[in-house]
Amino acid sequence: MNPEMTSPTSQYTWASNFSEPMDDLVKRYTASVGFDQRMWRQDIRGSLAHARMLARQGIISTQDLSDIQRGMAQIAGEIESGAFVWSLGFEDVHLNIEKRLTALVGDAGKRLHTGRSRNDQVATDIRLYLRDAIDDIQILLGQFQAALLDLAEREADTPMPGFTHLQVAQPTTFGHHVLAWYEMTRRDAERLADVRKRTNRLPLGAAALAGTTYPIDREFVAAELGFDEVCENSLDAVSDRDFAIEFCSAAALLMMHVSRMSEELVLWMNPRFAFVKIPDRFLTGSSIMPQKKNPDVPELARGKTGRVYGHLAALLTLMKGQPLAYNKDNQEDKEPLFDTVDTLTDTLRIFAAMISGIIVRPEAMSDALRQGFATATDLADYLARKGLPFRDAHRVVGQAVRRAEELGVDLPQLSLSELRSFSPLIEEDVFSALTIEGSLAARKHAGGTAPEQVRAAIARSRGRCQRIASEDRG
Ligand code: ARG
Repeated sequence: MNPEMTSPTSQYTWASNFSEPMDDLVKRYTASVGFDQRMWRQDIRGSLAHARMLARQGIISTQDLSDIQRGMAQIAGEIESGAFVWSLGFEDVHLNIEKRLTALVGDAGKRLHTGRSRNDQVATDIRLYLRDAIDDIQILLGQFQAALLDLAEREADTPMPGFTHLQVAQPTTFGHHVLAWYEMTRRDAERLADVRKRTNRLPLGAAALAGTTYPIDREFVAAELGFDEVCENSLDAVSDRDFAIEFCSAAALLMMHVSRMSEELVLWMNPRFAFVKIPDRFLTGSSIMPQKKNPDVPELARGKTGRVYGHLAALLTLMKGQPLAYNKDNQEDKEPLFDTVDTLTDTLRIFAAMISGIIVRPEAMSDALRQGFATATDLADYLARKGLPFRDAHRVVGQAVRRAEELGVDLPQLSLSELRSFSPLIEEDVFSALTIEGSLAARKHAGGTAPEQVRAAIARSRGRCQRIASEDRG
């Protein structure tokens, strides 16, 4: 009988010097296959590149390489179809695949791990996984941004109150407001692109920690896998998880932006505001109050933001006490990272759809605008243009607002003689400065709220999106 089959520890690749089998609790506690199996594609891709390099360098034979390739093709098919049996006993995705490969192709499967360790293997897999995830997220983010730009363009002429301290401040447009959201997401896309650069470096070749004695060719593997460069230091290569932390940090900022938008959507769909309607397909009902329509999607996005912040804190804490090089602590990097990827993916997908469906209610916005003396600053600017120092103009307008408040009217409803009682500088032309349209049109510098400027900003943004898309293709 094969001695390996009879040993109580035979199941483990690494257990030949162990005297008793692993405790069942330990087996469950230390295994990661339950969650790291989602990296199987990256694991196979990485192994095939490693095997090609080994054959090219004469470290394994070309026969071994073709056996490995044949075995891996079958394994991929099995995993894809659901026929693959994942075993807790083989700890993680890496050992599960290697065990199956060896069962399928024999010695060639056992040679695959030459010059490699699970430490550099797992670091490579996560980087490949995250690089793919960032690319997918950028596409979804692009769709979300396109929805924002479309909405901003549709509503570039729709006046709404701009707020500070959540009090009516000055007139703006719904389009300008949505464009502010767009700008937040533009920085998010830049940050993700930057994280990708530091993610896209190859750890493989670092082996366990100090490198390997085989004549490996890391540059070849990097090129095969589409990495921009190799990690320079083997100790750092197996222990660095900065890229995952950076990703979670960029994700936390992105979710913070989504959460702020969500807060506004929740307020705006409340009948007290009634600025927007969210289509029914994005709302939920109440099991007790038949009249209710609840904005669960933005509320949940706001809630899930906390979860992503938590993952960032978890990863930072995971790393802070680790001596070089690899420690098993690192296995805890995956669940926070995967959940961050999933949360971002789902949130961006649903927000792109929901933003496209938003119905704007211009009457409610202009009603709100008429109630908050939104053109008070315009009146002060008018007086300042006529020579009154701005601080004096500010005081004069404050008095006019008080009078309008007493009369229960907005500033443009005050008569000319009433207005002139506060300053003789006020003439008939004041009324054009006090209209919403006049106030909007006057803010006509770059970045301003004037509809022509909003449209120009949208055109610049669309141009930028197109340039980025064609660079990606090129
Ligand atoms: N499952 C492990 C992880 O996720 C793979 C690396 C294990 N390396 C080791 N020396 N135990 O980190």
